[in-house]
Amino acid sequence: MKTIDAIYKRKSTRAFRGKNISRTILSDILQAGLQAPSPKNDQPWYFLVMEQQEKRYEVARILETRLKEIKEKSDLQGIERPDILGAFESVRILREAPVLIFVYVDDKKCIGHDDSVRWKLSARDSECTHIMAIGAAIQNILLAATEKGVDSLWLGDIFYAYNSLYEYLGIEGCMMAVIALGYSSEKIEKVARKNLNEMVRWL
Ligand SMILES: Cc1cc2nc3c(=O)[nH]c(=O)nc-3n(C[C@H](O)[C@H](O)[C@H](O)COP(=O)(O)O)c2cc1C
Repeated sequence: MKTIDAIYKRKSTRAFRGKNISRTILSDILQAGLQAPSPKNDQPWYFLVMEQQEKRYEVARILETRLKEIKEKSDLQGIERPDILGAFESVRILREAPVLIFVYVDDKKCIGHDDSVRWKLSARDSECTHIMAIGAAIQNILLAATEKGVDSLWLGDIFYAYNSLYEYLGIEGCMMAVIALGYSSEKIEKVARKNLNEMVRWL
C-alpha cells in the first residue's frame, strides 16, 4: 500500500470484534512507530503493549470508576459534561479491543505532571518537541496498522483517570495516549475534513 493510500484509508474504529492480532504483525506495527522523527533522534517513547483480557478489563474499570466520580461531582454542581458522557464509550472500547498500546514519553524529558489538568502548552519547549515526536510515532503506528489491515483508535480519554492508570500500569514516564488496535466489527465511514482553503494561507 502506498503511504498516501494509508493516510486516506485510516479511520478511527470504535467497535472491535474478538479476533486477535498476531505478534508478528504487532511487532511490525511497533517498528513503524520507532521510525518516527524525534528531536536529536533521542526517541523519547516507550510502549506498553497490553493483550491480556483481565488487564484490559481492569484498565476499563479504572477509567469507568473515575468517570462516574467526575460525573457525580458535576451533576451535584449542575454542570453539564458532554465530554464525560462521550468518554464512557472509551470504557467499552478499552474492554473490546484485543490490543492496547500505552504510549509514554520518557519522564526525564518532561516535567513531572501529577494531574492532567496541569498539562499546558506553556510546557517547556523541549517537552513540547518530545510530545510532538510521540504524536509522530503514534501516527506511524496507525498508518502501519492500516497497511496491515488492522483497525485502530487513538485515545486521549485515559487522561480522565491519569493518576489511577499511571499507578496501575507502573511505568516510569508520562503517559501520553493509548492506541486501541484490532479488527473492526462494523463498516466505518470516513469523517469529513475542512477545505484546504480554510486551513492554509499561502504567501
Ligand atoms: C490526541 C487524540 C486523542 C483522541 N482521543 C480520542 C478518544 O479519547 N476517544 C475517541 O473516541 N477518539 C479519540 N480520538 C480520535 C478522534 O476523535 C478522531 O481522530 C477524529 O474524530 C477524526 O476521525 P478519524 O480518525 O476517523 O479520521 C483522538 C484523536 C487524537 C489525535
